[in-house]
Amino acid sequence: MDTTDSSDTLDLAALGGASISSVLGRYMDKSWSHGIGHRLYDTDGRGYLDFANGIAVTALGHTHPRVTKAIHEQVDKLIGPVHALGFAESTVKLAKMLTATFPEPLDSVLFLNSGSETIDGAIKLARRATGRPAIICFRGAFHGRTIGATSVTSSSLNYRIGYEPLLPAVYQTVYPAVYRYYAGDEQKAVADSLKHLDGLLMTTVAPSQVAAIIIEPVQGEGGYYPAPAAFLQGLRERCDKHGILLIADEVQSGFGRTGQMWSFEESGIVPDVVCVAKAIANGLPLSGIVASTDLMTRWGKGAHGTTYGGNPVACAAGVAVLETIHDENLVENARLRGAELLGGLRELMADHPGIGDVRGRGLMIGVEFVKDRASRTPDGATADAVTARAVDAGLLLLNCGIQHQVIRWIPPLNVTVPEVEEALAIFEGALKG
Ligand SMILES: Cc1ncc(COP(=O)(O)O)c(C=O)c1O
Repeated sequence: MDTTDSSDTLDLAALGGASISSVLGRYMDKSWSHGIGHRLYDTDGRGYLDFANGIAVTALGHTHPRVTKAIHEQVDKLIGPVHALGFAESTVKLAKMLTATFPEPLDSVLFLNSGSETIDGAIKLARRATGRPAIICFRGAFHGRTIGATSVTSSSLNYRIGYEPLLPAVYQTVYPAVYRYYAGDEQKAVADSLKHLDGLLMTTVAPSQVAAIIIEPVQGEGGYYPAPAAFLQGLRERCDKHGILLIADEVQSGFGRTGQMWSFEESGIVPDVVCVAKAIANGLPLSGIVASTDLMTRWGKGAHGTTYGGNPVACAAGVAVLETIHDENLVENARLRGAELLGGLRELMADHPGIGDVRGRGLMIGVEFVKDRASRTPDGATADAVTARAVDAGLLLLNCGIQHQVIRWIPPLNVTVPEVEEALAIFEGALKG
């Protein structure tokens, strides 16, 4: 093969299909050339408004100048990890800046490489620090694909089939997905889900055996369902009462996405452990487990580790991300643009009975398709068709939910008013088919 060919002249889908493992699932099979700002360009030169962002990863848009500059500068200084020998400047700087975004006592971070790794690490931390075996997780959760993360994931059977036995002592309880399971009745969702958890602790696993409860404060892959504040408060109370650690998975919902820096802030609770990844370095592989110094100390020196985590280049990008979020008021922008997007989508819902619900916080919004509003039967086929038509019309969207019935809206945090309007106009066309 002539390796001097530009990627713009190659059929990447055909070549990749032949040489990249088919185990990877894809929403589409396009050949991508480059990204600039909020547009992703295919190899035919067509630009798409990117509201997918590699699933909430490039939260500042593609090749953000500040992030790119920081990466270039760091590449000339130090690329490789120096963990085993000491500390690198950008890693220390990011640790300081990142932990400063959390309420007390969350003041310590362990950098890793991916979201899944933070979940496995958090499970290990909880087990070692409490000396207890059990983990409680939620129906419909997605925490990743490593074996520990798989054990607490149930957003799709395909993530679990053929991998059992998974981790032992993992118990599942009900997530308060207000629209899907409680006909929109938030109070009932909170009461019933807490009752289910209490029942689990009374009949199935003794609280004294539970190391941690792990939750996505806004359930992501499972269907973009925000947990009501009262539910998270109820979890916190139970964790405090029984000495159980509360782990918040903010991998998708964090970094300002929901109009708060961290989505758990909406409820006023403080988790014991927070898992962060995705937007942290705007595309470079980096993630982190955040907890108090006290808890990290109880984990024990050398009890966990990493070769690449906290890589200086990824951390330099992470510093630029946090500086940009701060300097450009992007948490506020997520709140404002999110309200506009939510309002626009709700207007469209009024004319489209196939849309059963439009919900979300900030720029993490789900549009759920149903066969009819009375039965709320999920309609994944229509959601898939609408997404495909939006993509054809130049807007990249992704689906989620057990039957793909939810179209998720995760535009970049610095999305503009005209881009929100452009996306709504394309979506309106896609709805009409
Ligand atoms: C909430 C949540 N947790 C964990 C993960 C796993 O992250 P990764 O794919 O980086 O391992 C994801 C990925 O989509 C996620 O959305």
